[in-house]
Amino acid sequence: MKMPKSAVLHDFGPTPLSFRDAVFLGLAKPQKTLPCQFFYDERGSRLFEKICRLPEYYLTRTELGILGTMGPELHSLLGKNARMIEFGCGSSEKIITILKHMNVGSYVPVDISKSALLELTRDVALQFPDLQIHAICADFTKEFEIPLPVRGGQQTIGFYPGSTIGNFTPDEAREFLAKTRALLGRDGLMIVGVDLQKNPEIIERAYNDSAGVTAEFNKNLLRRINQELNGSFELERFIHRSHYDAVKGRVEMHLESREEHEVQVDGASFSFLAGETIHTENSHKYTLEGFKKLAGDAGYSPLRFWTDSERLFSVHLLRSSG
Ligand code: AVJ
Repeated sequence: MKMPKSAVLHDFGPTPLSFRDAVFLGLAKPQKTLPCQFFYDERGSRLFEKICRLPEYYLTRTELGILGTMGPELHSLLGKNARMIEFGCGSSEKIITILKHMNVGSYVPVDISKSALLELTRDVALQFPDLQIHAICADFTKEFEIPLPVRGGQQTIGFYPGSTIGNFTPDEAREFLAKTRALLGRDGLMIVGVDLQKNPEIIERAYNDSAGVTAEFNKNLLRRINQELNGSFELERFIHRSHYDAVKGRVEMHLESREEHEVQVDGASFSFLAGETIHTENSHKYTLEGFKKLAGDAGYSPLRFWTDSERLFSVHLLRSSG
């Protein structure tokens, strides 16, 4: 794919954790696990987009609604000509909604996947042909540099939507946020989308949709192992499970083996008991106070937050304090 004229790609050549290493490590543990980052091959990304449009999956449309109402206020809170860094790139709809209301000088999307990055860059460039885009191919959970100097007084704003932060444990989320402060610099701002704790039934429905798309998404991991690592998983022998643990404040997704059996992966054998699970994802939910406390512990001052009328989802504006 060609880069638009207004955009530059900075490729740091990130080396993603090898799928094979992750599978062998994860399936050898007493509680088998597979890292959720591997959901997103091409098929997985398409399934995730489908999840975002499901009636039960309130997160995406609720966040988009909130972002749509924040515009005028954001406009008055933010400096002119700011530099906007997006951590990870999902669909372009959210950043386009934000940019419509803002006076942004440059846009810096960061993602480990070059193809996702190029697609997002093209979408945003089409909408805003004069906006300077610096797409950075890097692992944003590690240290990386932004290869262009800030002009005097230019403010940097981080954007981390989608409750992607929920995949981290609260400790990891705090550490991640603390690290972003170095990138944002003095008076840097951070906009974070955070899913809220609520009636467990609403949450569990969002991860257990009636059309079975989330189950397909979950099982896509096994399909990938079959295709890429010569695996012998039979998908019908596993049940998609997701459960909201109100004490931990998180949804856990698992794949549960129906019966005792063995599976081969790249020549190695892994055994499953009846009822044994592979833990595939955590999705943490916060209270408004809980997230503000976490942000504070990461060195941010929570400036304000926005929610929908049902308090399903929240978007927080944080200022890097000193
Ligand atoms: C992209 C991590 C925010 O946790 O809700 C959707 C992924 N997993 N359905 C989430 C997901 C199952 C999603 N995040």
